[in-house]
Amino acid sequence: MLYPILKQAIPELLNIEASLFELNKLSDYFDDDIPFWFKKGIKGKKWTQIDCFSNTIKCSLPILEWCAGKGHLGRLIHHKTGAKVSAIEWSSDLCKQGQQLAVQQDIEQNFIEANVLLGEADEYLNQQQHVVALHACGHLHVHLINSAKKLSTKK
Ligand SMILES: C[S@@+](CC[C@H](N)C(=O)[O-])C[C@H]1O[C@@H](n2cnc3c(N)ncnc32)[C@H](O)[C@@H]1O
Repeated sequence: MLYPILKQAIPELLNIEASLFELNKLSDYFDDDIPFWFKKGIKGKKWTQIDCFSNTIKCSLPILEWCAGKGHLGRLIHHKTGAKVSAIEWSSDLCKQGQQLAVQQDIEQNFIEANVLLGEADEYLNQQQHVVALHACGHLHVHLINSAKKLSTKK
């Protein structure tokens, strides 16, 4: 939203594709046609967010969920697209709980316990995947963007 205004004032800013600034209403993505057992333990607002987010994923590349918590988003993406899903999370407790949910729901989702800020998850990034992150705040997503950038410029 701010970019078009800033770009007028600072023409040296990098060109960014206009489509990145087209925001649809959240309700445009909401589908909610999901089995009830899938939503167990996921509260209303979180459910809306992951449902809408998962509906924007159209690729079939493997999905890596960054700072995944219990990996709800990844599981839902797998349910909708069939993509292979993995989850990076530093809390061993959340990894265990997420893995349990995946087993209960018969979804192949592996949890990797890693501190992303120490670079422990960088080795799991590659160019043949799609990375998703929900509420990976502050340095958590900044580290991801920097590592992905390094990887994409690597020869
Ligand atoms: C706000 S929560 C979001 C969880 C999940 N993506 C969601 O939306 O439900 C942030 C997550 O990042 C994890 N986290 C925090 N610092 C981390 C780190 N340095 N490395 C890996 N995970 C981290 C937390 O344990 C937590 O699960």
